[in-house]
Amino acid sequence: MAGSSSLPLFPESRGHGPLAAVEGALAVPGAFGRVAVFGGVYSNHSALRAALDLARKRGAEAIFCLGDLGGFGPYPDRTCALLRETGVRVARGNYDDSIARGLDDCGCGYIDPRDNFFAQVSYDYTAAHTSTENRAWMAGLPPAFRFRLGRTLVLTCHGSPRQTNEFLWESGTPDGLLRHFLDASGADLILGTHTGIKWERRLEDGRGFVNVGVLGRPENDGTPRVWFTMLDVDPERGWRAEFVPVDYDQQELAREMREEGLPEEFVAAILTGWWTTCLEILPAKERLRGKH
Ligand SMILES: [Fe+2]
Repeated sequence: MAGSSSLPLFPESRGHGPLAAVEGALAVPGAFGRVAVFGGVYSNHSALRAALDLARKRGAEAIFCLGDLGGFGPYPDRTCALLRETGVRVARGNYDDSIARGLDDCGCGYIDPRDNFFAQVSYDYTAAHTSTENRAWMAGLPPAFRFRLGRTLVLTCHGSPRQTNEFLWESGTPDGLLRHFLDASGADLILGTHTGIKWERRLEDGRGFVNVGVLGRPENDGTPRVWFTMLDVDPERGWRAEFVPVDYDQQELAREMREEGLPEEFVAAILTGWWTTCLEILPAKERLRGKH
């Protein structure tokens, strides 16, 4: 991490409107040259371990996790332990918020009965296997971070800056909405996750949005790899995002999922790379790229 600088961090949110979900964002002092960012671990502790190794090898000065630690995979406390031991800066996603508060569901807002069924199976499993200590840790996580990447002011969020569980898909997010979030926050770059599929957009004025992807589940592209994002300083354009594929032992994770009695539908998604559940949330354009 570089030293302090006279560049100000941007204004605090006022608790409503376009920044309601990032009120209380934690400002990280200093300025970074290169960071790694991911979200959606979904208890895939194996992919998390592989991603942390890769991020360190690539020279990440800090590692940020944008939330959704549990769900889908096995042994949720293993993911929490890894994140806590390795000093990753973790923000709270909708899943973590629900687990921390002991709510009845993950707050993803599924309507389709089949999607709802599977979401509930994974939520109930995760809630039953997350320790009291880890729940308390989640409850104390900030909703977001603000930090500097060179001269670029970065704001993280989970779904969107206005709503933690809002899905910002590439096909359904107009430039005007991104501009609205950027104007309201004063950020040059906003990072999010939550949808499960990465994407990036740079506006004409150089500001932008990056969905950093998820580590917990493949991207519905027929390959079992998962993704995180490396961000660094671009001398001419301010910031640069690189999506990094992560390979890990999917067979071992599948074995653990079966050991824990998790649905075969989840195991199939890990092994094949095609989503088998939560399909209702996909817009037509993103769904057409998939198999189901
Ligand atoms: Fe989420």
